[in-house]
Amino acid sequence: MLSSEKVVIVDFGGQYTQLIARRVREHKVYCEIVPYNTPYEKIEAAGPGALIFSGGSASVYAEDAPRCDARLYELGIPLLGICYGMQVMAQDLGGDVLRARNQEYGKTYIHIKKNNSLLSGLGNRFTAWMSHGDYVTRVPEGFEAIAESDNTPIAAMADRQRGFYGLQFHPEVIHTPQGQQILGNFLFRLCKFSGNWTMENFIETSIAEIQEEVGPEGKAVCGLSGGIDSSVAAVLLHRALGDRLTCIFVDHGLLRKGEKEQVLETFQGQFHMNLVAVDAREEFLQRLQGGTDPEEKRKVIGNHFIRVFEREAERLGRVDFLVQGTLYPDVIESGTATAAVIKSHHNVGGLPADMKFSLIEPLKYLFKDEVRKLAAELALPEEIVWRHPFPGPGLAVRVIGEVTPEKLALLQEADAIVIDEIKKAGLYREIWQAFAVLPDILSVGVKGDCRMYGHTIVLRAVTSQDGMTADWYPFPYEVLERISNRLVNDLPQVNRFVYDLTTKPPGTIEWE
Ligand code: XMP
Repeated sequence: MLSSEKVVIVDFGGQYTQLIARRVREHKVYCEIVPYNTPYEKIEAAGPGALIFSGGSASVYAEDAPRCDARLYELGIPLLGICYGMQVMAQDLGGDVLRARNQEYGKTYIHIKKNNSLLSGLGNRFTAWMSHGDYVTRVPEGFEAIAESDNTPIAAMADRQRGFYGLQFHPEVIHTPQGQQILGNFLFRLCKFSGNWTMENFIETSIAEIQEEVGPEGKAVCGLSGGIDSSVAAVLLHRALGDRLTCIFVDHGLLRKGEKEQVLETFQGQFHMNLVAVDAREEFLQRLQGGTDPEEKRKVIGNHFIRVFEREAERLGRVDFLVQGTLYPDVIESGTATAAVIKSHHNVGGLPADMKFSLIEPLKYLFKDEVRKLAAELALPEEIVWRHPFPGPGLAVRVIGEVTPEKLALLQEADAIVIDEIKKAGLYREIWQAFAVLPDILSVGVKGDCRMYGHTIVLRAVTSQDGMTADWYPFPYEVLERISNRLVNDLPQVNRFVYDLTTKPPGTIEWE
């Protein structure tokens, strides 16, 4: 258990469930999401100090409507039901829920009818976000209706005695501007939590957990890419195990300029970790020779990565554990919040399913922004903490067509220029990902009074929350101008620069 103040969020399939978790953690209260059908014993064993029932898209009247174990109401701990979570609670405890014909969706005003700590400090009327079909028309015994909305008679309900609360609207979304205060009221006034969950005590508890799991003799291996997730996982494991952790860094020759040097400097120089750096550039290049199909290129790299990793891991002798930097969203999405499933991890190109190692995933309950905080707490350099995501197959998916050493070298230089100018302009952290692409085209230009046939460099820069959708970044013209000037002046082979103005969808972030 990571904290004595733990909230278990029972997920009824709501689209905002992860958001609830993030908001709770922003209040420095630890929480975990479990599917609604998680066995009661498991939830009880997790030792929650409070429960939250999430929203969900079903109607409580649907035949296959998700329901929870009724014993959850007997745990004797505070419970907050949100939207569908409120309706389920109302119905389970004997209230009435009306099956609405029309959906209420969007902004609405909530009017407070009765004073209650849950809604204290909000004024008599506040804006909230609704997204529901059914609604509660009669509260269960012991409850009182404490607020109504323009269209719903019972927008919030409370049973002070049992500490049960329901909200018809969504406090977790930004369209409910005071939603964070409502969640805070629940956590601090009603659950009496203190909000003491910090990265510092996360580090302490997870080190203790890792040590217990691995035992005094156990050995672990970690594939280190220099990306933030594997870096943080490695440093945490190193704190717990010291020299019993070995990291394997595979240089496939498809890295950004200076990346390898930085990884060595950070993890060997600064952290004094056991680090095996494998120079596999030749092997990868050879296998990529002549290949132009994007999927084929990815496959070649992914498969060979596994082989190199296995080969190097075998050289280490007995190893019991494999460390992976899997994050919470991956765990939730794969629906295996508690099972140790070997995920085909992007960053190491997918590891084989028949591995002899047990898996350690120290970040599996963290979101990306929390990993960044953790990285800072662990004293990882800023460069790593804020580095843009980088795909496992590296520059091979940014050199369009066949990958050659010359093209790779050119792209590394171009990319370094692009990133340098973006950093100088102070825009690096605003952008989710920015990089140079080398398309497989040559065009005519004039350099030094001579006609030349030269390369084009494409700039791809996007904003995004999670990489699933993306918008192109609206650069100031001056920045584009500086990038353009440097690319064509500093790189003799380049005579053209273009900026990719495509959103995702339809364009993916990477070009291959
Ligand atoms: P796309 O190109 O699909 O990329 O819009 C979405 C995000 O995923 C990253 N990406 C990868 N990351 N291994 C990775 O670790 C991969 O094979 C891979 N392919 C794409 C991409 O950089 C972007 O952040």
